[in-house]
Amino acid sequence: MDILKKIQDHREQEEELKWEGTFSEYLDLLKERPYLAQSAHSRVYNMIKSAGVAEEHDHKRYKFFDEDIYGLDEAMEKLVEEYFHPAARRLDVRKRILLLMGPVSGGKSTLVNLLKRGMEKYTHTDEGAVFAIKGCPMHEDPLHLVPNHLRKDFQEEYGIRIEGSLSPLNTMRVETEYGGRIEDVLVERIFFSEDKRTGIGTFSPSDPKSQDIADLTGSIDFSTIAQYGSESDPRAYRFDGELNKANRGIMEFQEMLKCDEKFLWHLLSLTQEGNFKAGRFALISADELIIAHTNEAEYRSFIANKKNEALHSRMIVMPVPYNLKVSQEERIYEKMIRESDIRDVHIAPHTLRVAAMFTILTRLKESKKASIDVLKKMRLYDGEILEGFSDVDVEELKKEHADEGMSGIDPRYVINRISSTIIKKELTSINALDVLRSLKDGLGSHASISNEDKERYLDFISLARKEYDEIAKKEVQKAFVYSYEDSAVTLMDNYLDNVEAYCNKAKLRDPLTGEELNPDERLMRSIEEQIGVSENAKKAFREEILIRISAYARKGKKFDYQSHERLREAIQKKLFSDLKDVVKITTSTKTPDEQQLKKINEVVATLIDEHGYNSSSANELLKYVGSLLNR
Ligand SMILES: Nc1ncnc2c1ncn2[C@@H]1O[C@H](COP(=O)(O)OP(=O)(O)OP(=O)(O)O)[C@@H](O)[C@H]1O
Ligand SMILES: [Mg+2]
Repeated sequence: MDILKKIQDHREQEEELKWEGTFSEYLDLLKERPYLAQSAHSRVYNMIKSAGVAEEHDHKRYKFFDEDIYGLDEAMEKLVEEYFHPAARRLDVRKRILLLMGPVSGGKSTLVNLLKRGMEKYTHTDEGAVFAIKGCPMHEDPLHLVPNHLRKDFQEEYGIRIEGSLSPLNTMRVETEYGGRIEDVLVERIFFSEDKRTGIGTFSPSDPKSQDIADLTGSIDFSTIAQYGSESDPRAYRFDGELNKANRGIMEFQEMLKCDEKFLWHLLSLTQEGNFKAGRFALISADELIIAHTNEAEYRSFIANKKNEALHSRMIVMPVPYNLKVSQEERIYEKMIRESDIRDVHIAPHTLRVAAMFTILTRLKESKKASIDVLKKMRLYDGEILEGFSDVDVEELKKEHADEGMSGIDPRYVINRISSTIIKKELTSINALDVLRSLKDGLGSHASISNEDKERYLDFISLARKEYDEIAKKEVQKAFVYSYEDSAVTLMDNYLDNVEAYCNKAKLRDPLTGEELNPDERLMRSIEEQIGVSENAKKAFREEILIRISAYARKGKKFDYQSHERLREAIQKKLFSDLKDVVKITTSTKTPDEQQLKKINEVVATLIDEHGYNSSSANELLKYVGSLLNR
């Protein structure tokens, strides 16, 4: 019921947006909204801008890409500032093919799709509206109707410069259908749609022997030649190639450099002069953004070939590198899993993060700075704050290697390994160790990994594994401490009593014997040492805590276990080190006694309720940490 209603609403909305009128009525529209006559490049740029731009320390983030492209803010900024923006302003880059160059599965196709889907939506808005000569298979710009000798006057009156000349087909239609009265020619609003082949075209190379240039530029319609008498009658030609259909919008050239040359030559004049040749006609003007993609190896061999010089000079190459941030890589996997058929499998917490760490490590280049190892670099790139490093250092690091992000493990490999692990073992739950093992096992059969890389990658697997060990231990520590919450509170109260006595140079009273005691220095130090408070700093630390307590008291608030971040950490660590043996015994014993079993169940429950595990992944985690602690 609901969906049917929605379908109907949608149809009504579409109906409302429709517009049809004569050319002279269209000119009235232009008087009010001159932007309707904008070029394809300008429309794409305005679409990107209309989604919003965030200024973040000296960089612009174009929100348009947020939804689908993760971790490539800087590459997207460059793409907009160096191509889309100047192209929108009719600068020379508009006359060049935009060639996205990047490693496999680095998001090139995703980016182009985002632009295409974006344009489909944008042409439904007021700002993105597009008008065309009605009944034209190339949805020609109505302004082409203005004869050349009047265009200067037109520009003075409307402030719009017209580029391109009326196509042979419409020239003929004006005569035959409208008796030469261009003001009566019908104009309609069009909406881009790849499915309906309006304003969006895609060309992908196939076997050059069988692939026909007609796929690009259309072809003669032999069934109508008899009717019109000649092959050079435009009415006997089908303007249904991808270049025709993409007019006014976006033309995607997939794997451009795999294309046979003869296809590429058409692009030379299209980009440079804004027109192309089809059949036996005068040149056909087209206004479209040509966007192509390729990988680095193909690009290198393309430019090495002298024959390609002319074409090369008409391209603008924009890098689309791999993402280099662990947390963004995790989001990429989450998205890919959501879109796949393994989305129902339980993936233990931290699994994707650990896989992402490995992947990012394979993409990073070693820094020249001795103080920065790959793990540090990985953390800094992900926005972590490390002592002794500033934003400036991170910017410098990024500048060290121009080609960083152009190689390494691709996200599809990771997802494939995860899927195959699940399918092979018929697992319903997987953890970081399963995935690391599978990533490792797959390296041998990965087509593009050299033996030398493989050695490096194996090291990264162990690095990621060590990171996971730390994460796993912390996780169990937290869960144990959580179920020892009471002990934490007691320990804390005890510490605070001692600190108070110490600062006031007073004595404590033993609750059992009533005996007067000195503050328990050993207890206080054993807690403070957990967070690195030195002997010299202990007095200041204790006084600071007392000040905090009295500040709380003044405001009528109770100072408790959660009130002081560092103190809480110290207490937890102390507790955990006291508990270490308990954890060790509890997690590794094969035949736990009743008491131990109770504790294990509590901890498992905490892991499930508070940390996103299920019972099998929680038990696996405990077992693993048990084995780590016993080493
Ligand atoms: N930076 C990224 N942000 C979001 N998703 C990404 C990113 N990089 C890769 N992906 C995901 O990885 C998968 C492969 O990406 P895509 O097909 O766009 O890559 P490609 O560069 O076109 O690859 P190919 O060279 O194989 O054609 C997609 O599911 C895509 O969503
Ligand atoms: Mg692709």
